[in-house]
Amino acid sequence: MKTKITEMLGIEHPIIQGGMHYVGFAELAAAVSNAGGLGIITGLTQKTPADLANEIARCKDMTDKPFGVNVTFLPIVNAPDYPAIIKAIIDGGVSVVETAGNNPSQVLPYLQDAGIKVIHKCTSVRHALKAQSIGCDAASIDGFECGGHPGEDDVPNMILLLRAADELEIPFVSSGGQADGRSLVASLAMGAEGMNMGTRFIATQEAPIHENVKQAIVNATELDTRLVMRPLRNTERVLNNAATENLLAKEKRLGEKLTFEDIVDEVAGVYPRIMLDGEIDAGVWSCGMVAGLINDIPTVQELIDRIMDEANTLIEKRLSGMLSLTSIRI
Ligand SMILES: Cc1cc2nc3c(=O)[nH]c(=O)nc-3n(C[C@H](O)[C@H](O)[C@H](O)COP(=O)(O)O)c2cc1C
Repeated sequence: MKTKITEMLGIEHPIIQGGMHYVGFAELAAAVSNAGGLGIITGLTQKTPADLANEIARCKDMTDKPFGVNVTFLPIVNAPDYPAIIKAIIDGGVSVVETAGNNPSQVLPYLQDAGIKVIHKCTSVRHALKAQSIGCDAASIDGFECGGHPGEDDVPNMILLLRAADELEIPFVSSGGQADGRSLVASLAMGAEGMNMGTRFIATQEAPIHENVKQAIVNATELDTRLVMRPLRNTERVLNNAATENLLAKEKRLGEKLTFEDIVDEVAGVYPRIMLDGEIDAGVWSCGMVAGLINDIPTVQELIDRIMDEANTLIEKRLSGMLSLTSIRI
């Protein structure tokens, strides 16, 4: 399938694996790229820029296809060493960067001068327009359904994608709630040039994380996520578990007085314990409503092949079949 995104990124299928903390390691990124999509290493999961350079090199050993790095700009005082992270990405010969969080205007010229395409992930049309105005190559439109940080506007993708299509000139992909060939065809119909998936890629053989996490996603339904940290205006969609219930009880009890220090046990530094050690109740962890559509743990190749087969069949048989039926009736 050819879209503006496959052409821009030099990939076979319009499917991107979004950056995911403690999931987006070289093994998963390489598997997605080898299967014809765009795999993404999560930059901030690597403890130092030197570790990131090493992860990029490992990925290059596992694939000769294009892959990307996610750089999340956090609104915190002790920021990571972003200039060194950007240097590791440029020196590593990465071809795509997915940015998220604050807008990437400060690093954009360095990345683009090195020939790197920049996709900014946004949860609102106004942020996507800002990304377009500063020169980002594409946007990833992350709806309210998404795993991770959906922003504070609560607009689901049925509306958000169409609003993006009406306003944006740069190409965009759908993100949040995407699972299968139906998701891809719907995204394309709504004006997107492809789709980005997070939660779906966690439940794959190659995701180098603990089986307990994959199984928790398979077991979850679309009713099993919760929004946490809304009082801090740092809303995150997470899987419901003991830590989530604890955190929500604190939010209820403390109301507007809640501070980050109150919830540090549930959120700080918990990802390695959850993702690597499989202690799935050790803290809150991002998960999308799309968990309700995930019932197996295929290889990445099987997943992407299945999505593309389903999308092609939908377009060729179901949709064009409807058109020919109409013309027969006329
Ligand atoms: C476990 C997990 C960790 C994530 N970590 C990050 C991250 O570090 N940076 C980021 O930009 N997005 C992160 N995301 C968001 C994903 O890249 C993607 O936008 C989102 O998962 C899309 O929604 P979906 O889960 O419904 O597919 C994370 C998502 C999950 C599920």
